[in-house]
Amino acid sequence: MNKKLTVGVVGLGFGGNHLQAAIDFGAEIAAICDVNPERLNAYREKHNLPESACFTDYRDVLALDSIDAVIIATPDQLHREIAVAFLEAGKHVMCEKPLALTREDMRAIVAAAKASDKKFMVGQICRFTPAFIKAKELVEAGTIGELYYVESEYAHDYEKMLRSVAKHWRTDPLRHGVVGGGCHAVDLLRWIAGDPTEVTAYGVHKLLPMVPYDDTTISILKFPNGVIGKIFVSTGCKRNYTMRTLLYGTKGTIICDNTSDHMQLFTIGENGMSVNEQPEIIPINVNNHNALQEFRVFADAILNDTPVPTDAIEGAKSVEVCLSIVQSAETDQKVFPNYQF
Ligand SMILES: NC(=O)c1ccc[n+]([C@@H]2O[C@H](COP(=O)([O-])OP(=O)(O)OC[C@H]3O[C@@H](n4cnc5c(N)ncnc54)[C@H](O)[C@@H]3O)[C@@H](O)[C@H]2O)c1
Repeated sequence: MNKKLTVGVVGLGFGGNHLQAAIDFGAEIAAICDVNPERLNAYREKHNLPESACFTDYRDVLALDSIDAVIIATPDQLHREIAVAFLEAGKHVMCEKPLALTREDMRAIVAAAKASDKKFMVGQICRFTPAFIKAKELVEAGTIGELYYVESEYAHDYEKMLRSVAKHWRTDPLRHGVVGGGCHAVDLLRWIAGDPTEVTAYGVHKLLPMVPYDDTTISILKFPNGVIGKIFVSTGCKRNYTMRTLLYGTKGTIICDNTSDHMQLFTIGENGMSVNEQPEIIPINVNNHNALQEFRVFADAILNDTPVPTDAIEGAKSVEVCLSIVQSAETDQKVFPNYQF
Protein backbone atom coordinates (compact mmCIF):
# COMPACT_ATOMS: atom_id res chain seq x y z
CA MET A 1 0.00 0.00 0.00
CA ASN A 2 1.60 3.27 -1.05
CA LYS A 3 -0.83 5.55 0.76
CA LYS A 4 -2.28 5.08 4.20
CA LEU A 5 -6.05 4.88 4.05
CA THR A 6 -7.88 6.77 6.80
CA VAL A 7 -11.32 5.46 7.67
CA GLY A 8 -14.28 5.96 9.96
CA VAL A 9 -16.78 3.30 11.07
CA VAL A 10 -20.37 4.28 11.85
CA GLY A 11 -22.39 1.71 13.81
CA LEU A 12 -20.50 -0.72 16.02
CA GLY A 13 -22.51 -3.93 16.10
CA PHE A 14 -21.45 -5.93 13.05
CA GLY A 15 -19.43 -2.79 12.30
CA GLY A 16 -16.99 -4.03 14.95
CA ASN A 17 -15.91 -6.69 12.41
CA HIS A 18 -15.31 -4.01 9.79
CA LEU A 19 -13.33 -1.99 12.29
CA GLN A 20 -11.16 -5.03 13.03
CA ALA A 21 -10.75 -5.70 9.29
CA ALA A 22 -9.67 -2.11 8.61
CA ILE A 23 -7.13 -2.32 11.45
CA ASP A 24 -5.85 -5.71 10.23
CA PHE A 25 -5.47 -4.24 6.75
CA GLY A 26 -3.33 -1.43 8.14
CA ALA A 27 -5.76 1.46 7.71
CA GLU A 28 -5.70 4.34 10.12
CA ILE A 29 -8.86 4.70 12.21
CA ALA A 30 -9.77 8.37 12.40
CA ALA A 31 -13.29 7.96 13.73
CA ILE A 32 -15.62 5.46 15.31
CA CYS A 33 -19.23 6.44 15.81
CA ASP A 34 -22.18 4.91 17.63
CA VAL A 35 -25.20 6.46 19.33
CA ASN A 36 -24.62 4.02 22.18
CA PRO A 37 -21.85 5.56 24.34
CA GLU A 38 -21.08 2.30 26.18
CA ARG A 39 -20.52 0.44 22.94
CA LEU A 40 -18.45 3.32 21.62
CA ASN A 41 -16.30 3.31 24.72
CA ALA A 42 -15.84 -0.46 24.63
CA TYR A 43 -14.39 -0.21 21.10
CA ARG A 44 -12.30 2.80 22.03
CA GLU A 45 -10.72 0.79 24.84
CA LYS A 46 -10.40 -2.39 22.79
CA HIS A 47 -8.44 -0.66 20.03
CA ASN A 48 -6.76 1.96 22.18
CA LEU A 49 -8.21 4.84 20.20
CA PRO A 50 -8.13 8.48 21.42
CA GLU A 51 -11.28 10.20 22.76
CA SER A 52 -10.97 12.64 19.86
CA ALA A 53 -11.72 9.81 17.41
CA CYS A 54 -15.01 8.88 19.12
CA PHE A 55 -18.38 10.29 18.08
CA THR A 56 -22.03 9.70 18.95
CA ASP A 57 -23.35 11.75 16.00
CA TYR A 58 -22.30 10.79 12.47
CA ARG A 59 -22.73 14.41 11.35
CA ASP A 60 -19.61 15.30 13.32
CA VAL A 61 -17.70 12.70 11.30
CA LEU A 62 -18.88 14.20 8.01
CA ALA A 63 -16.86 17.30 8.68
CA LEU A 64 -13.53 15.51 9.24
CA ASP A 65 -11.15 16.34 6.38
CA SER A 66 -8.79 13.59 7.52
CA ILE A 67 -11.19 10.79 6.56
CA ASP A 68 -10.94 9.16 3.11
CA ALA A 69 -13.60 6.52 3.56
CA VAL A 70 -16.38 5.49 5.86
CA ILE A 71 -18.00 2.15 6.62
CA ILE A 72 -21.70 2.35 7.47
CA ALA A 73 -23.02 -0.49 9.63
CA THR A 74 -26.04 1.12 11.25
CA PRO A 75 -29.56 -0.34 11.20
CA ASP A 76 -30.80 -0.70 7.61
CA GLN A 77 -33.37 2.11 7.95
CA LEU A 78 -30.51 4.63 8.28
CA HIS A 79 -28.42 3.54 5.28
CA ARG A 80 -29.97 6.07 2.91
CA GLU A 81 -29.60 9.12 5.15
CA ILE A 82 -26.05 8.35 6.24
CA ALA A 83 -24.74 7.01 2.91
CA VAL A 84 -26.04 9.98 0.95
CA ALA A 85 -24.61 12.40 3.53
CA PHE A 86 -21.11 10.87 3.29
CA LEU A 87 -21.18 10.70 -0.50
CA GLU A 88 -22.18 14.36 -0.59
CA ALA A 89 -19.36 15.12 1.84
CA GLY A 90 -16.91 13.64 -0.70
CA LYS A 91 -16.07 10.40 1.12
CA HIS A 92 -15.69 6.87 -0.25
CA VAL A 93 -18.42 4.71 1.27
CA MET A 94 -18.84 1.05 2.07
CA CYS A 95 -22.42 0.48 3.24
CA GLU A 96 -23.73 -2.70 4.79
CA LYS A 97 -26.33 -4.80 3.01
CA PRO A 98 -29.17 -4.48 2.25
CA LEU A 99 -28.53 -1.26 0.36
CA ALA A 100 -31.94 -0.02 1.53
CA LEU A 101 -35.37 -1.27 2.54
CA THR A 102 -37.50 0.57 -0.03
CA ARG A 103 -37.29 1.29 -3.75
CA GLU A 104 -37.34 5.01 -3.00
CA ASP A 105 -34.38 4.79 -0.64
CA MET A 106 -32.30 2.58 -2.92
CA ARG A 107 -32.90 4.93 -5.86
CA ALA A 108 -31.78 7.88 -3.72
CA ILE A 109 -28.51 6.09 -2.88
CA VAL A 110 -27.94 5.09 -6.51
CA ALA A 111 -28.46 8.72 -7.56
CA ALA A 112 -26.02 9.99 -4.93
CA ALA A 113 -23.42 7.38 -5.93
CA LYS A 114 -23.77 8.31 -9.60
CA ALA A 115 -23.35 11.99 -8.76
CA SER A 116 -20.18 11.32 -6.75
CA ASP A 117 -16.67 10.64 -8.06
CA LYS A 118 -15.95 8.51 -4.96
CA LYS A 119 -16.24 4.73 -4.62
CA PHE A 120 -19.45 3.27 -3.26
CA MET A 121 -19.60 -0.40 -2.31
CA VAL A 122 -22.41 -2.46 -0.75
CA GLY A 123 -21.23 -5.04 1.76
CA GLN A 124 -22.53 -8.20 0.05
CA ILE A 125 -20.10 -10.27 2.04
CA CYS A 126 -21.01 -13.68 0.52
CA ARG A 127 -19.08 -12.67 -2.57
CA PHE A 128 -15.94 -12.92 -0.41
CA THR A 129 -16.71 -16.35 1.05
CA PRO A 130 -13.99 -18.72 -0.25
CA ALA A 131 -16.43 -21.58 -0.97
CA PHE A 132 -18.82 -19.37 -2.91
CA ILE A 133 -15.92 -17.90 -4.90
CA LYS A 134 -14.75 -21.44 -5.70
CA ALA A 135 -18.29 -22.49 -6.69
CA LYS A 136 -18.57 -19.58 -9.11
CA GLU A 137 -15.16 -20.41 -10.59
CA LEU A 138 -16.20 -24.05 -11.14
CA VAL A 139 -19.41 -22.96 -12.87
CA GLU A 140 -17.53 -20.51 -15.11
CA ALA A 141 -14.92 -23.14 -15.97
CA GLY A 142 -17.70 -25.45 -17.20
CA THR A 143 -16.87 -28.12 -14.61
CA ILE A 144 -20.55 -28.91 -14.04
CA GLY A 145 -21.58 -28.28 -17.64
CA GLU A 146 -24.46 -25.96 -18.36
CA LEU A 147 -26.19 -24.54 -15.31
CA TYR A 148 -29.91 -25.32 -15.20
CA TYR A 149 -31.03 -25.05 -11.55
CA VAL A 150 -29.73 -23.00 -8.61
CA GLU A 151 -30.86 -22.92 -5.03
CA SER A 152 -29.86 -20.98 -1.94
CA GLU A 153 -31.27 -20.10 1.44
CA TYR A 154 -30.95 -17.80 4.37
CA ALA A 155 -32.01 -19.79 7.40
CA HIS A 156 -31.24 -17.85 10.54
CA ASP A 157 -33.26 -17.91 13.73
CA TYR A 158 -33.66 -14.30 14.95
CA GLU A 159 -35.91 -15.14 17.90
CA LYS A 160 -33.34 -14.77 20.69
CA MET A 161 -31.96 -11.54 19.20
CA LEU A 162 -35.42 -10.02 18.73
CA ARG A 163 -36.46 -10.90 22.28
CA SER A 164 -33.29 -9.34 23.71
CA VAL A 165 -34.56 -5.75 23.41
CA ALA A 166 -38.02 -4.23 23.83
CA LYS A 167 -38.30 -3.00 20.24
CA HIS A 168 -35.57 -4.28 17.97
CA TRP A 169 -35.04 -2.37 14.71
CA ARG A 170 -35.41 -5.67 12.84
CA THR A 171 -39.13 -5.77 13.82
CA ASP A 172 -39.85 -2.65 11.71
CA PRO A 173 -42.54 -3.54 9.10
CA LEU A 174 -40.13 -2.39 6.39
CA ARG A 175 -37.39 -4.75 7.54
CA HIS A 176 -38.85 -7.90 6.03
CA GLY A 177 -36.55 -10.88 6.58
CA VAL A 178 -36.32 -11.47 2.82
CA VAL A 179 -34.83 -8.00 2.33
CA GLY A 180 -32.76 -7.80 5.50
CA GLY A 181 -31.22 -11.28 5.54
CA GLY A 182 -32.51 -12.95 2.38
CA CYS A 183 -30.60 -10.41 0.30
CA HIS A 184 -27.49 -12.57 0.97
CA ALA A 185 -29.00 -15.58 -0.86
CA VAL A 186 -30.51 -13.38 -3.57
CA ASP A 187 -27.24 -11.58 -4.23
CA LEU A 188 -25.30 -14.86 -4.28
CA LEU A 189 -27.56 -16.42 -6.92
CA ARG A 190 -27.63 -13.18 -8.96
CA TRP A 191 -23.83 -13.21 -8.91
CA ILE A 192 -23.68 -16.78 -10.20
CA ALA A 193 -26.78 -17.08 -12.43
CA GLY A 194 -27.64 -13.50 -13.42
CA ASP A 195 -30.61 -11.22 -12.76
CA PRO A 196 -33.91 -13.05 -12.26
CA THR A 197 -36.61 -12.08 -14.75
CA GLU A 198 -39.64 -13.53 -12.92
CA VAL A 199 -40.44 -14.24 -9.30
CA THR A 200 -43.25 -16.19 -7.63
CA ALA A 201 -43.32 -16.51 -3.84
CA TYR A 202 -45.32 -17.77 -0.87
CA GLY A 203 -44.94 -16.78 2.75
CA VAL A 204 -46.00 -17.98 6.17
CA HIS A 205 -45.94 -16.39 9.63
CA LYS A 206 -45.76 -19.01 12.38
CA LEU A 207 -42.51 -18.50 14.26
CA LEU A 208 -41.86 -14.85 15.19
CA PRO A 209 -44.92 -13.21 16.80
CA MET A 210 -42.97 -9.99 17.36
CA VAL A 211 -42.55 -9.23 13.63
CA PRO A 212 -45.37 -7.89 11.44
CA TYR A 213 -44.31 -9.85 8.34
CA ASP A 214 -43.94 -13.45 7.17
CA ASP A 215 -41.01 -15.09 8.93
CA THR A 216 -40.65 -17.74 6.24
CA THR A 217 -40.80 -17.31 2.48
CA ILE A 218 -40.15 -19.57 -0.44
CA SER A 219 -39.64 -18.16 -3.90
CA ILE A 220 -39.14 -19.71 -7.31
CA LEU A 221 -37.36 -17.66 -9.91
CA LYS A 222 -36.50 -17.64 -13.59
CA PHE A 223 -32.93 -16.63 -14.37
CA PRO A 224 -31.39 -15.81 -17.79
CA ASN A 225 -30.46 -18.65 -20.18
CA GLY A 226 -33.31 -20.89 -19.07
CA VAL A 227 -31.96 -21.40 -15.54
CA ILE A 228 -34.58 -21.89 -12.82
CA GLY A 229 -34.05 -21.42 -9.10
CA LYS A 230 -35.39 -21.42 -5.58
CA ILE A 231 -34.66 -19.27 -2.53
CA PHE A 232 -35.81 -20.17 0.99
CA VAL A 233 -35.69 -17.53 3.69
CA SER A 234 -36.60 -18.14 7.30
CA THR A 235 -35.74 -15.82 10.16
CA GLY A 236 -37.43 -18.01 12.74
CA CYS A 237 -36.40 -21.55 11.73
CA LYS A 238 -35.38 -23.89 14.55
CA ARG A 239 -31.95 -24.95 13.36
CA ASN A 240 -28.41 -23.59 13.11
CA TYR A 241 -27.64 -20.77 10.69
CA THR A 242 -27.08 -21.86 7.12
CA MET A 243 -26.83 -20.56 3.60
CA ARG A 244 -26.70 -23.98 1.95
CA THR A 245 -26.34 -23.37 -1.77
CA LEU A 246 -26.70 -25.93 -4.57
CA LEU A 247 -25.75 -25.43 -8.19
CA TYR A 248 -26.93 -28.02 -10.70
CA GLY A 249 -25.35 -28.35 -14.13
CA THR A 250 -25.75 -30.81 -16.98
CA LYS A 251 -22.43 -32.47 -16.07
CA GLY A 252 -22.38 -32.18 -12.30
CA THR A 253 -23.57 -30.57 -9.10
CA ILE A 254 -21.96 -28.37 -6.46
CA ILE A 255 -23.13 -28.52 -2.87
CA CYS A 256 -21.89 -25.67 -0.76
CA ASP A 257 -22.96 -25.83 2.84
CA ASN A 258 -21.63 -23.35 5.33
CA THR A 259 -22.40 -25.62 8.26
CA SER A 260 -19.58 -27.87 7.03
CA ASP A 261 -15.87 -27.27 6.44
CA HIS A 262 -15.90 -28.41 2.83
CA MET A 263 -17.87 -28.29 -0.37
CA GLN A 264 -18.90 -31.25 -2.50
CA LEU A 265 -18.50 -31.57 -6.24
CA PHE A 266 -20.34 -34.31 -8.12
CA THR A 267 -19.31 -34.84 -11.74
CA ILE A 268 -20.28 -37.37 -14.42
CA GLY A 269 -18.36 -40.62 -14.64
CA GLU A 270 -15.84 -41.63 -17.27
CA ASN A 271 -18.58 -43.00 -19.51
CA GLY A 272 -19.95 -39.47 -19.67
CA MET A 273 -23.33 -40.60 -18.42
CA SER A 274 -23.60 -41.68 -14.81
CA VAL A 275 -22.74 -39.51 -11.86
CA ASN A 276 -19.79 -40.54 -9.74
CA GLU A 277 -21.41 -41.85 -6.57
CA GLN A 278 -18.86 -40.20 -4.33
CA PRO A 279 -18.42 -36.47 -4.58
CA GLU A 280 -15.02 -34.80 -4.64
CA ILE A 281 -14.61 -33.22 -1.21
CA ILE A 282 -13.07 -29.80 -1.51
CA PRO A 283 -11.78 -28.65 1.88
CA ILE A 284 -12.35 -24.93 1.87
CA ASN A 285 -13.15 -22.25 4.36
CA VAL A 286 -16.89 -21.78 4.20
CA ASN A 287 -16.44 -18.69 6.36
CA ASN A 288 -19.41 -16.48 5.72
CA HIS A 289 -18.04 -13.26 7.12
CA ASN A 290 -14.75 -12.60 5.39
CA ALA A 291 -14.74 -8.93 6.35
CA LEU A 292 -10.98 -8.58 5.82
CA GLN A 293 -11.14 -9.64 2.16
CA GLU A 294 -14.15 -7.39 1.67
CA PHE A 295 -12.21 -4.45 3.11
CA ARG A 296 -9.15 -5.30 0.96
CA VAL A 297 -11.27 -5.07 -2.18
CA PHE A 298 -12.83 -1.76 -1.06
CA ALA A 299 -9.39 -0.36 -0.20
CA ASP A 300 -7.92 -1.53 -3.49
CA ALA A 301 -10.72 0.23 -5.38
CA ILE A 302 -9.89 3.47 -3.59
CA LEU A 303 -6.10 3.26 -3.68
CA ASN A 304 -5.74 1.89 -7.23
CA ASP A 305 -8.95 3.20 -8.78
CA THR A 306 -10.30 -0.27 -9.58
CA PRO A 307 -14.05 -0.88 -9.87
CA VAL A 308 -15.89 -2.14 -6.81
CA PRO A 309 -17.62 -5.50 -7.40
CA THR A 310 -20.83 -4.49 -5.67
CA ASP A 311 -21.59 -0.89 -6.56
CA ALA A 312 -24.86 0.86 -5.72
CA ILE A 313 -26.62 -0.59 -8.76
CA GLU A 314 -25.60 -4.15 -7.83
CA GLY A 315 -26.92 -3.54 -4.31
CA ALA A 316 -30.13 -2.06 -5.72
CA LYS A 317 -30.68 -5.03 -8.04
CA SER A 318 -30.52 -7.43 -5.11
CA VAL A 319 -32.98 -5.30 -3.12
CA GLU A 320 -35.26 -5.12 -6.17
CA VAL A 321 -35.39 -8.94 -6.33
CA CYS A 322 -36.04 -9.16 -2.57
CA LEU A 323 -38.88 -6.63 -2.78
CA SER A 324 -40.30 -8.52 -5.76
CA ILE A 325 -40.32 -11.72 -3.66
CA VAL A 326 -42.14 -9.95 -0.82
CA GLN A 327 -44.58 -8.37 -3.28
CA SER A 328 -45.31 -11.72 -4.94
CA ALA A 329 -45.96 -13.44 -1.60
CA GLU A 330 -48.26 -10.62 -0.49
CA THR A 331 -50.26 -10.36 -3.72
CA ASP A 332 -50.22 -13.98 -4.94
CA GLN A 333 -49.02 -12.63 -8.28
CA LYS A 334 -45.98 -13.27 -10.42
CA VAL A 335 -43.62 -10.24 -10.25
CA PHE A 336 -41.14 -9.05 -12.87
CA PRO A 337 -38.22 -7.18 -11.22
CA ASN A 338 -37.47 -3.77 -12.69
CA TYR A 339 -33.72 -3.14 -13.06
CA GLN A 340 -33.92 0.36 -14.53
CA PHE A 341 -31.84 2.53 -12.21
N1 LIG B 1 -22.84 -8.64 6.21
C1 LIG B 1 -23.39 -9.36 7.17
O1 LIG B 1 -23.28 -10.58 7.20
C2 LIG B 1 -24.15 -8.65 8.25
C3 LIG B 1 -24.33 -9.27 9.49
C4 LIG B 1 -25.04 -8.58 10.46
C5 LIG B 1 -25.54 -7.31 10.19
N2 LIG B 1 -25.35 -6.77 8.97
C6 LIG B 1 -25.86 -5.42 8.67
O2 LIG B 1 -25.11 -4.50 9.45
C7 LIG B 1 -25.94 -3.44 9.88
C8 LIG B 1 -25.94 -3.39 11.40
O3 LIG B 1 -26.48 -4.59 11.90
P1 LIG B 1 -26.04 -5.12 13.35
O4 LIG B 1 -26.38 -6.55 13.39
O5 LIG B 1 -24.66 -4.70 13.65
O6 LIG B 1 -27.06 -4.31 14.26
P2 LIG B 1 -26.82 -3.90 15.78
O7 LIG B 1 -28.13 -3.39 16.28
O8 LIG B 1 -26.14 -5.00 16.52
O9 LIG B 1 -25.76 -2.70 15.68
C9 LIG B 1 -26.09 -1.48 15.08
C10 LIG B 1 -25.30 -0.41 15.80
O10 LIG B 1 -25.60 0.85 15.18
C11 LIG B 1 -25.76 1.82 16.21
N3 LIG B 1 -26.54 2.94 15.70
C12 LIG B 1 -27.89 3.05 15.61
N4 LIG B 1 -28.21 4.25 15.09
C13 LIG B 1 -27.04 4.90 14.84
C14 LIG B 1 -26.72 6.18 14.31
N5 LIG B 1 -27.68 7.04 13.93
N6 LIG B 1 -25.42 6.53 14.23
C15 LIG B 1 -24.45 5.67 14.64
N7 LIG B 1 -24.69 4.46 15.16
C16 LIG B 1 -25.98 4.07 15.25
C17 LIG B 1 -26.42 1.06 17.35
O11 LIG B 1 -26.25 1.72 18.59
C18 LIG B 1 -25.69 -0.27 17.28
O12 LIG B 1 -24.53 -0.27 18.06
C19 LIG B 1 -27.30 -3.69 9.28
O13 LIG B 1 -27.40 -3.02 8.05
C20 LIG B 1 -27.31 -5.19 9.05
O14 LIG B 1 -28.21 -5.57 8.03
C21 LIG B 1 -24.66 -7.41 8.02
